[in-house]
Amino acid sequence: MKDKICVITGANSGIGKITARELAKQGSHVVMLCRNEEKAEQAKEEILRICGHSRVDIILADLASIEQIRSAAERVNKEYPKIDVLVNNAGLMTDNKRNTTEDGFEMTFGVNHLAPFLLTQLLLDKIVASEQGNIINVSSEAHRFASFDLTDLQYEKRKYNGLKVYCSSKLCNILFTRELGKRLPKHVVTNALHPGAVASNFGSGVSSFFGIVFKLAKPFMISAEEGAETSIYLATSDEGWTASGKYFKEKKAVKPNKDASSDYNAQRLWEVSEELLQVEFLPKKSASSA
Ligand SMILES: NC(=O)c1ccc[n+]([C@@H]2O[C@H](COP(=O)([O-])OP(=O)(O)OC[C@H]3O[C@@H](n4cnc5c(N)ncnc54)[C@H](OP(=O)(O)O)[C@@H]3O)[C@@H](O)[C@H]2O)c1
Repeated sequence: MKDKICVITGANSGIGKITARELAKQGSHVVMLCRNEEKAEQAKEEILRICGHSRVDIILADLASIEQIRSAAERVNKEYPKIDVLVNNAGLMTDNKRNTTEDGFEMTFGVNHLAPFLLTQLLLDKIVASEQGNIINVSSEAHRFASFDLTDLQYEKRKYNGLKVYCSSKLCNILFTRELGKRLPKHVVTNALHPGAVASNFGSGVSSFFGIVFKLAKPFMISAEEGAETSIYLATSDEGWTASGKYFKEKKAVKPNKDASSDYNAQRLWEVSEELLQVEFLPKKSASSA
C-alpha cells in the first residue's frame, strides 16, 4: 500500500478510523474526510502515533450538505495528483422522526446513498488517474430487511421508520456498487461489504426500540478492529483489486438479496440519483455510439 493515496469518509470513528489507521500503517497517504474537526484531529493524532509517517490529512465536510461535499471534493482534487482508494464508509441511522439534509433529502438516504454517489462522481477523474483505482462502499446485511421501493426511496409516502430507511439506504449501497462496477473503466474496481455487527459509535443517537436493542447487544458485538477487516481486505488483497461489482462479508463475496441483485433496480437507482443531484455520472454509451 506504499505510495497509495486513500480517501476515507467517516475516518474519525469506529470502522472508518481503524481502516484509516491500518492503511496508514501499511504506508498509505490517508485523507480523512470527516465532519467534526475536533474528533477528526483526535483520531489523526492516534493514527500518527503509530503509523510511522506523517502523511495523514483531514478534509472537513458534512455529508448532509451538497455544498460541503462539493467543496471537499474540490480540495481533494486540487491537493492530490490521484486517488488510489476511496472508502465510502460514513453512515448513520436516525430515530423515527423524519429529518432532511441541507438540500431537503431524507437524512439517511441523503448521507448513506446520495453523498457517496456524488462524492464518487466528483472524485472520479482522480481515481481514474491512478494506475489502478479501488472504490469500496460500506454497506450492511441490514439490506436484507429493507422494504425497497424505488418510488419512495425517501419515505415520503410510507410511515417513517428510521431502521427501515437505514436498511433501504444500505441496499442502495449494493445497487450503486453493482451499477458502478459496470460503468467504470477496466482499471478501476468497486465492491461493497458488510463489516459485521460492530460495537462502534453507530446507533448511539437512536432512542427508538432498535437503538435500545443495539445498545444492549453491544457487549456481544465484534470490535471496530474486527469490523474493519473486510474494508482493509478489499483495499489491500489481490481479490480486492480484481473483483468488481460484488458484495463481501467476512472477506468473501456473497450473494446479496434479490432486490440488491436486480440490474433494473441498479440502473433505475442510478438514474433517480442523477436526477435528484442534477449530475451526469458515467453515462452509458447509446447503442448507436457503441
Ligand atoms: N456498527 C455496525 O454494526 C455496522 C453494521 C453494518 C454496517 N455498518 C456501517 O459501517 C459504517 C461505519 O459505521 P461505524 O459502525 O463505524 O459507526 P460510527 O462509529 O458511528 O462511525 C460513523 C462515521 O460516519 C460519520 N458520519 C455520520 N454522518 C455523517 C455526516 N453527515 N457527514 C460526515 N460524516 C458522517 C461519523 O461522523 P461523526 O463521528 O462526526 O458522527 C463517523 O465518523 C456505516 O456506513 C454503517 O452503516 C455498521
